[in-house]
Amino acid sequence: MRIYELNDYLAVSRKAAAVIAAQIIAKPNSILGLATGSTPIGAYQQLVQWYQNGDLDFSQISSVNLDEYKGLPRDNDQSYYYFMNDHLFRHVNIASEHTHIPNGMEPDTAKECSGYDALIESLGGVDLQLLGLGHNGHIGFNEPADHFAKSTHCVDLQERTIEANKRFFESADEVPRQAYTMGCGTIMKAKKILIVVSGKDKAKIVDKAFFGSITPQVPASLLQLHQDVTLVGDKEALSLLDH
Ligand code: GLP
Repeated sequence: MRIYELNDYLAVSRKAAAVIAAQIIAKPNSILGLATGSTPIGAYQQLVQWYQNGDLDFSQISSVNLDEYKGLPRDNDQSYYYFMNDHLFRHVNIASEHTHIPNGMEPDTAKECSGYDALIESLGGVDLQLLGLGHNGHIGFNEPADHFAKSTHCVDLQERTIEANKRFFESADEVPRQAYTMGCGTIMKAKKILIVVSGKDKAKIVDKAFFGSITPQVPASLLQLHQDVTLVGDKEALSLLDH
């Protein structure tokens, strides 16, 4: 694992954006695995700026997002579809038909899940998967469990995740209870993984996930077995790593 320790969130965002930009420049038709949450927002802003300066071209890029709330329509401003448009897609020249996000409004869970995995496979797999990290070690919406989920599936969100995500909704009651997410197995198939972390509140879970035991109780711990992982964090988030 490569670890970059930066001074603050801005520097984390610039470094993460640089890793993504390098991927786009090296392989203009890359398949990017994208993430939501507050941590990647700064990286998306930086990518948009580089695009506006004429330094990046998304015209051949395809994207697959990690997850989506089940039951939220695309035009709901808390859907991940809305988030991605708002923070990245509408600001750059990515073709909308090349962007893919699980369809939260598909009631047939089996259909949506197998369809999403088949789609990723048909694209040739993810070249670079961007990830944030939940406080309980979740990646995408893979919650702590007694096994690692292999493929895209529908999860019941845990109370802690609902609590953490309620800041974006009017109240905790509004947070959907289920979500579609790529599985840990789907994520592990990506050729490269980039994880972004920021803030003191992530310090414990960063240490546990990347230097603790590999266990489905900390889904991100599986990434220790991936051959190409880059962790980009600020001093606060990496403060417990004395290794
Ligand atoms: C959500 C997303 C995750 C994200 C996590 C952490 O639950 N499904 O993909 O990594 O939040 O978000 P934040 O970066 O806001 O801490």
